[in-house]
Amino acid sequence: MIDIEHRRVLMCPPDYFTVRDVKNPFMASGAPVDHDLAKRQWSAVGDAFTSAGVTVEKIDAVEDLEDMVFAANQVFVGTDSAGTRFIVPSAMRYESRAREVPHYVRWFKQHGFRTIDLRLDAGAGEYLEGHGDLLWHPNRPHVWAGYGFRSTLAGVRKFTEAMEREEIAGVMPLELVDETFYHLDTCFVPLTSHAALVYSPALSAGALASLRGAFKRLHDVSREDAMQFACNGVPVNGYFIASHLSDALWKVVRNEGLKPVIVDTSEFEKAGGSVFCLKVFLD
Ligand code: ARG
Repeated sequence: MIDIEHRRVLMCPPDYFTVRDVKNPFMASGAPVDHDLAKRQWSAVGDAFTSAGVTVEKIDAVEDLEDMVFAANQVFVGTDSAGTRFIVPSAMRYESRAREVPHYVRWFKQHGFRTIDLRLDAGAGEYLEGHGDLLWHPNRPHVWAGYGFRSTLAGVRKFTEAMEREEIAGVMPLELVDETFYHLDTCFVPLTSHAALVYSPALSAGALASLRGAFKRLHDVSREDAMQFACNGVPVNGYFIASHLSDALWKVVRNEGLKPVIVDTSEFEKAGGSVFCLKVFLD
């Protein structure tokens, strides 16, 4: 039985991608980006989705928006209680990334998505960074919401109020405590409705207790695996598309009924992102 199914994904080509500013610790290495290699890697990630039965849609890249390739962050996507697809636009912490949001909002409006605008006040510290920090629990009206480095508890609270008011989902905040794992999608990923990978030291004790209560199997990832973005893999249609899996994790993924697919994302990792960050599911 396939637990996590998706048929459409949105990606943004890396036309203007580069590492500029240090927005997260991965960006501090100063390693230069090989732009041709980045383009090939991005195409291979798209091909992996296609092979997994997912249609890849594209949004045009915009000059000067070097991180726009990370399509997971600009909006949160869901389906409301009436079955209408909606987005919640993000309030990004960094100014250059905040400028990406209107481009994505326009794309989603043109494609029939309703907008739930939280009117987040960045001046009051209300930040919310889309699916970087907001992860759906597979097949449940429930969202796990990381906060601490990029999204804030104030942002997550406004999101929670809206999701509850609209009877869309319950939301559980998860505090992040290791700045290297600055987004929830760098240290946690559900593999199925019942099992997840987690790099435990990146989460507060309370956050870990919440996850333990919700997943039958919480598989611990080593720091080495986490630093290579094992938790930034994508479970979809019976596959787990990731940039890296140690032998031990490979077995865990297989035992959970998924077929591992490895794609190289070295150039994007220099900016702090891998497979999960490079896409947003549309369904
Ligand atoms: N350089 C980008 C940033 O720091 C990387 C974003 C990666 N996206 C993600 N969902 N973790 O904002």
